[in-house]
Amino acid sequence: MNKFTWFGHATLGLETGGYKLVIDPFFTGNPAASTKADSIAADFILVSHGHGDHVGDAAAIANRTGALIISNHEIATWFGKQGVQKVHGQHLGGGFKHPFGYLKLTLALHGSQLPDGSDGGNPSGFLLTTNDGKKIYMAQDTGLFGDMKLIGEEGLDLAVIPIGDNYTMGPDDALRAVKMLQPKTVVPIHYNTFDLLNQDAQAWARRVEQETATRVAVLKPGESLEF
Ligand code: NI
Ligand code: MN
Repeated sequence: MNKFTWFGHATLGLETGGYKLVIDPFFTGNPAASTKADSIAADFILVSHGHGDHVGDAAAIANRTGALIISNHEIATWFGKQGVQKVHGQHLGGGFKHPFGYLKLTLALHGSQLPDGSDGGNPSGFLLTTNDGKKIYMAQDTGLFGDMKLIGEEGLDLAVIPIGDNYTMGPDDALRAVKMLQPKTVVPIHYNTFDLLNQDAQAWARRVEQETATRVAVLKPGESLEF
């Protein structure tokens, strides 16, 4: 059993095989957050890129829980310099068998500068194959790119993609992304955090379900789905 939670913005939770993962933990200062960073349990923290709304509370949660931070090499090294004890660097296209499953860093079209101006390397998304064989693609911040077709060829149970526009794909490109990814279920993220990212997720869901075979799960911050 796998349990996916959307905490608002691009902050995700995943419980799989008894492990707790939190992805891009942005609770403090996030107007859409459903939870406080202090109450988050984590064994592993995944950080997709260096922007403040993704690095967020990662170091604080890692220091409190002892969770391992997984990110690209540059960001993992940066967290190490901030005093985080356990970090694991990977890079785009590279996979590693972690206790919770096989995690590959995927392409993302975006920036990755860290909050102090350091170089955060290239931004990424995540493709996770859980120990029970489920495939989950978490695109995080990205524009549309044609290689989503390659990611879709893996056979996705769940895709998590941005629809907020301005900084990432908007609804039109996110619909094109679903057509390439062909996941069983898609969850829209990175919208309605601030006025700049306001979108009608229900309207988007109707378009996706009219034009594709994918089921759309529009969650409220703090809501979960099991699969
Ligand atoms: Ni970003
Ligand atoms: Mn972002």
